[in-house]
Amino acid sequence: MYLVTGATGGIGRRVVRLLRERDLSVRAFVRLTSRYGELEQRGAELFIGDLRQERDIQKACKGVQYIISTHGSGGDAQALDYRANIELIDQAKENGVEHFVFISVLGADRGYEDAPTFKAKRAVEKYLQSSGLNYTILRPAGLASNLIPLAEQFRQTGIYLLNGDAKNRTSIVSTDDLAQIAVDSVNLEGARNQIFPVGGPDVLKRQDIPRIFGRLFNKEPIVINPPLVVLDGLRNAIGFVNPQARKSLGTFRTLLANEFFCTADEIVNLELIFNLKLESLESFLQRYLGS
Ligand SMILES: NC(=O)c1ccc[n+]([C@@H]2O[C@H](COP(=O)([O-])OP(=O)(O)OC[C@H]3O[C@@H](n4cnc5c(N)ncnc54)[C@H](OP(=O)(O)O)[C@@H]3O)[C@@H](O)[C@H]2O)c1
Repeated sequence: MYLVTGATGGIGRRVVRLLRERDLSVRAFVRLTSRYGELEQRGAELFIGDLRQERDIQKACKGVQYIISTHGSGGDAQALDYRANIELIDQAKENGVEHFVFISVLGADRGYEDAPTFKAKRAVEKYLQSSGLNYTILRPAGLASNLIPLAEQFRQTGIYLLNGDAKNRTSIVSTDDLAQIAVDSVNLEGARNQIFPVGGPDVLKRQDIPRIFGRLFNKEPIVINPPLVVLDGLRNAIGFVNPQARKSLGTFRTLLANEFFCTADEIVNLELIFNLKLESLESFLQRYLGS
């Protein structure tokens, strides 16, 4: 039995699909408010709970052999990126789990002090590494699936809002490739007890993204590019009324202010170990949105 957290998210729902296509039994951890109809139709067992509740995590982990942790934090890094994963790891030990796959983030080890999610991910990575469990830690760059709503907006308006430095590099990964890597990590000897940066095959500049949208929809992009100081100003203003939101925005700012891409060697290594050809962002978007 596989336990998948974040089963209704961009990565998680693809992980559940792949596992069910292979006829493997899956317990999908979902919230009552989640859109989980598809998971049920595919034959996943639903566990309805909340990852903020330790008791829910304890119950969900009973009798599972594999855990794939893909949930997000919705702005509460302490409770979800950190505590929920620590509890999942403790319960994995308690239940004799054979392999734990953790979705971290590219740059988790760079010591970004202002980014709660990065700090939580790094702390969880270390905890997992010293847990004695078999593990695979995946550190993805940006996910291609997150660009689908932006591309749809672009299709309507031709406008692309590019925050921060347009020349910053990124290697956006196909969310389908990432899901396949997460699922295969459990069985591949070369993936055991390893950390992998995971990106797409191309190192893109942020300014390439509206160009890709433009080609996809045959539209000249109108790019609005506010500098980071605009976000900083907004963040400080929000901080007066909601200091917690100001902290959470630190992760977003870190994402905008830095480069997140994989080296050519890292990509070759990934393709070799997982025996796949990574898909470009353009091809991913074409598959989902092309006419
Ligand atoms: N997005 C990126 O570009 C990116 C880049 C690098 C790493 N990552 C990491 O990849 C992972 C998945 O990202 P994603 O974009 O696929 O996430 P996502 O689409 O935002 O999905 C988040 C998932 O977590 C679930 N969740 C949130 N709070 C929960 C709670 N209290 N109890 C139970 N479930 C809860 C959500 O459930 P609901 O459906 O109920 O909301 C959803 O299934 C995250 O760990 C993220 O840090 C993302």
